[in-house]
Amino acid sequence: MRVEEISTWVQDARKAFASATDLDSLKTARLAHAGDKSPIALASRGLGALSPEDKASFGKVIGEAKAEIAQALADATAVLEAERDRKVLLEEVVDITLPVNRSHRGGLHPITIIKNEVSDFFIEQGFAVEEGPELESGWLNFDALNIPADHPARTMQDTFFIEPVESGMVLRTHTSPVQIRTMLTQEPPIYVVCPGRTFRADELDATHSPVFHQVEGLVIDKGITMAHLKGTLDNFARHMFGPDVTTRLRPSFFPFTEPSAEVDIFFNNRWIEWGGCGMVNPKVLATCGIDTDVYSGFAFGMGLERTLMVRHGITDMHDIVEGDLRFTRQFGVGL
Ligand code: FA5
Ligand code: MG
Repeated sequence: MRVEEISTWVQDARKAFASATDLDSLKTARLAHAGDKSPIALASRGLGALSPEDKASFGKVIGEAKAEIAQALADATAVLEAERDRKVLLEEVVDITLPVNRSHRGGLHPITIIKNEVSDFFIEQGFAVEEGPELESGWLNFDALNIPADHPARTMQDTFFIEPVESGMVLRTHTSPVQIRTMLTQEPPIYVVCPGRTFRADELDATHSPVFHQVEGLVIDKGITMAHLKGTLDNFARHMFGPDVTTRLRPSFFPFTEPSAEVDIFFNNRWIEWGGCGMVNPKVLATCGIDTDVYSGFAFGMGLERTLMVRHGITDMHDIVEGDLRFTRQFGVGL
């Protein structure tokens, strides 16, 4: 081992580090000139075999050489790292002034939100949720509900009939056919709510839409009376509109309930019809094969748009059906 040899190693290392063009090639140079198998490392390990005298003098020279190599490596690393950072900043620069295609995260329509809320309220009380089809047979939408073809009540609800007319299919005018579907397939006791979309040839105005939503309720059990109906509706109304809501039952007529009533809510200084209700007509129970000596029941059908309007002071149905996001966003995302 000669001292000149050692200084050559240092110069070689310096040169190699300085000529590295990036951190990868610097790594290769580091392994060659400062790694475990580099001449300086081998020499350092060989010190132990030397005489005490040589060990002292060579040890000093080798120590200094190692320090110089380490410094050269640190300098080269600093230069190349700075260069890399500069490049990254340039390459990954974000022009915050560029216009972007912002896509908004979707949210639920307020009608969907209130539909879920109504379902949850009844589920908590042990009701099940049923959904029938929007394209319904005339028999289920009318006849089974005691509305025969020649009955004037059929004109109470202006119906969208499906072509060909012989198909007997209609767009359901209310959610009441789901009552029939449920009673035909389930044994009492029955506690269900049926939210869904309904259709009528109504003009779109401040309080009507040709496509709207109802939620049907149906309870069939032993000993069910009008008091159960009233209690259920009062709880429902308080849940939807708050404890101070004013409701009234107004005697009315539906072929499928007897007696029948309309449920009104006081809103905007006037009474607005929320829905219809009554004790299920024994004729309808019999059609569905339910023993009227043992069972009785009540049913109701509320408008969900009406519910939303009364609760949020919405005075125009157009806001609900037109899909303007400025309106919808006020109800939150609701996910
Ligand atoms: C019925 O549809 C009955 N099936 C309700 C019923 C069910 C009675 C069970 C008895 C037993 P009606 O046609 O009144 O009833 O409609 C019920 C509610 O739906 C109305 O009170 C109203 O809130 C809503 N509604 C009716 N037509 C429209 C419409 N065009 N736009 C928005 N909501 C409507
Ligand atoms: Mg009505």
